Formats: sequence, C-alpha cells, structure tokens
Amino acid sequence: MTHSDRLAAHPTPLESRSSGSLTGKVRVPGDKSISHRALILGALSVGQTTISGLLEGEDVLNTAKSMQALGAKVERTGPFAWQVRGVGVAGFAQPASPLDFGNSGTGCRLVMGAVAGCPISAVFDGDASLRSRPMRRILDPLELMGARTGEAKEGGRLPLTLYGARDPVPILYRTPVASAQIKSAVLLAGLAAPGVTTVIEQEASRDHTELMLKHFGAQIVSTNEGSHGRKIALTGQPELHGADVVVPADPSSAAFPIVAALIVEGSDIVFSDVMTNPLRTGLFTTLREMGASIEESDVRGDAGEPMATLRVRASKLRGVEVPPERAPSMIDEYLVLAVAAAFAEGTTIMRGLQELRVKESDRLEATAEMLRVNGVKVEVAGDDLIVEGRGHVPGGGLVATHMDHRIAMSALVMGLAADKPVKIDDTSFIATSFPDFIPMMRGLGAEFSS
Ligand code: S3P
Repeated sequence: MTHSDRLAAHPTPLESRSSGSLTGKVRVPGDKSISHRALILGALSVGQTTISGLLEGEDVLNTAKSMQALGAKVERTGPFAWQVRGVGVAGFAQPASPLDFGNSGTGCRLVMGAVAGCPISAVFDGDASLRSRPMRRILDPLELMGARTGEAKEGGRLPLTLYGARDPVPILYRTPVASAQIKSAVLLAGLAAPGVTTVIEQEASRDHTELMLKHFGAQIVSTNEGSHGRKIALTGQPELHGADVVVPADPSSAAFPIVAALIVEGSDIVFSDVMTNPLRTGLFTTLREMGASIEESDVRGDAGEPMATLRVRASKLRGVEVPPERAPSMIDEYLVLAVAAAFAEGTTIMRGLQELRVKESDRLEATAEMLRVNGVKVEVAGDDLIVEGRGHVPGGGLVATHMDHRIAMSALVMGLAADKPVKIDDTSFIATSFPDFIPMMRGLGAEFSS
C-alpha cells in the first residue's frame, strides 16, 4: 500500500457553503509541471541547481525522493527552497527499492524517460489511481529507443520494471496524442542518445521541458509544424550544467480561487507571479470570452517562462463554445471551467475532451457527475461536455472525488456560491498539488466546515 493509498483509506470529508465576498492578495504554490522538471533536470546535470518557489506538494515530493533514490543529492534549504547536486546525463544509479510516484502521472512518466536512457533498471509504482492509468503511450517510444519493460500489466500499467537502454538510439517520434508527458519522456531519454532526437506533435502541448532544457545548456530547437503543432529537435549527449530555477505560481492551481472570485458576488482577488506561458492559459482565454474580469499587470519572465499579476473580480458569465484545439492549453482546467459554466447564463460546450478520461480519474464522467448531483443539467456527448448554465447552482449534493485533487477543489469552489452547501467525500488528495488550498481559501473568506 503506497502513502496515498493509506490516505484514501481514511477519507476526510468537507462541506463548502455560500460565502460573503472573497477578497485579498495571494500567491498560489509553485507550478507543478516546472517543479517536477527542475528536480529531474537538476539531477541530470553536473554541479548545483538551486530551486526557489518549488511546489512542496506530495506529487513533487515523490519526484524529489525518486531523484535521491537514483543517486542525486536533493536537499531542502528553506521554505520552498531546494538544492540538487546532479549525476550528469545518463548517470543515474540503480535504485535500491521501487520508486513510488503516489498519485502523479507526470512524475512517473518523466522519470521513466530519464531512466530509459541509463543502463539501470527501476520498478515504477504508484497509488490505485496511478496504477489504473495507461503507460503504454510512454513505453512505446522508450522501447523504440532501446529500453525494455518487464512484468507490465495489460496496457503497460503499474507496477512495472523498466530496463534502461545501454546504448540508447535517437528517434523521430510523432506523438499519437497531444501530451507533454509523452514528449518530455522522449526528450529526457534522448538526452542520453547520440545524435538528434525529434518529437513532432500535431497540437502543441506545454513546452516547459524544452524551455528548461535550454536553460540548463542543451541544444534544442522548436519550430512550428502544421497549423497548431510543433517539431522539437534535441541534440543528444549534452553536458547539462546546474542552474537556478525560479518557479512561478501555478496557473492550474490559481484556476480554483480565480473561478471562486468570478462566481461569488462582490469578490476581488489579486494573484501574484502567475505563470502565463501561452500553452497554459486556455482557461483565462475562455473565461474572458465568457465575460470574466481578469486584469493582467506587471508582466515579466524568468528562464523563458512569463508571469504576471492577475486581478480577478466577480463577473456575470455567459455560456461559450470551447474549440477542441484549445484543450492542450487548459487540459487540467475543464473541471473548474465546468463549475464556472454552471453559474453562467446559457450553454457551454467543451469539445474534444477524450484525454480527460485518462487523468487522475475519468474526469469527463466525474465532472458530469459532480454537476448532476448538485442539480446542474449536463451531458457527455462523445468526447464533448455540455453544461446548461442557469446563473445559479442548486447545490446540496455529495461529490465523489475519486482520488482526484482537482475534483475535490472544483466541488468546494462550487459550494461557495451554490444555493445549498456542497459536500465532498475526501479532501486528502488536495495535498498532491495545493497543500494550503483550504487555509488559503478560508483566508480569502471561504466558508468550509467538516
Ligand atoms: C503535464 C502534462 C499534462 C497535464 C499534467 C501535467 C506535464 O498531461 O495533464 O497535469 O507537466 O507535463 P498530458 O501530457 O498527459 O496531457
């Protein structure tokens, strides 16, 4: 039983109720995607990496532990401040015990890529949610590069043993779905291969791996491909040098208090240092189309990642249609967008959401169920989600969170403006990505009771 399985065995329910206006200034925790990558690239570099603003959520802490198990020195030097002394490209050591990634698909899949280029083997494992998620999509390209897998369950599910390649080969790989995890796994394995590893994606996914590889000294070139895609070419066997990484605030975490501010009357919240990489801001685009007041100021950047201060005020929202090509830039935000859509006037149609079915839970069905039990009319039509907004939500439902942090936070946000309280069955998985969510929301004026 992994740590997060133990958490699931002792669920902690919580209820959220109609609250007065939410106000204040906050910095949500560091970006989860960048935090994982800073630890992994730090571990694959020579010399010292210093990270400030690291997300100290369970997902990222599991990646930190796995880097230690693979031979890197990883140390916490202060609140959200970490240091990594790396082993260099292809320098991972044989881990003594299985690597437990808990609830985190990103940690697990990126580390699979990094291990695939090293002449070692490692057992990958995780909690019941992660054990149910498909790994074939990662193992396929890694096997083409020379890695092998053993003891894999059907669909390559965890737990499994990955045998890294003694002589990894560079490949040209077209990702079958827009997934930064697949792209990143191939690029991380490609670090150890001689020659150029190329990934082509039809729809561009978040490019944090590419930006950070450049920051650590790799030669990597990204060009446009077709109307929405990218072609990324990485020259293998670079010497990566330890670097300083400043982790901006996570837009996917900010999404929850942002939607809360929009739907709770009279709210006005300022969010500092929010990452505004255009491959992550599809939610902000969509909310603005719905009539949301989101003002951006103090735009700046570090290591190629832009960030800004956002001021969000309660707004009258209207239903919109969200095109499928926007999905990669807001893939983790559909749950909370569906909450905003339920409070809007009119129908919101979100298209092309097939990837939601293989996240921490089947988020397409879970989102529909979350809304339905709270009196919202909603339909799943193929891969589309259709929400009938009526300007208010009856509430009164009990939401099953399915070991999924984002369902838990979305449902709690919904309760803050619903006619009747909304209850969730378990808050524990919120700690995977946003450990201070409940106290931070209370500090802004949210009413939660157990
Ligand atoms: C992530 C990529 C996305 C996203 C996940 C984080 C990453 O997954 O859902 O939360 O950091 O690369 P996919 O790449 O599978 O879409």
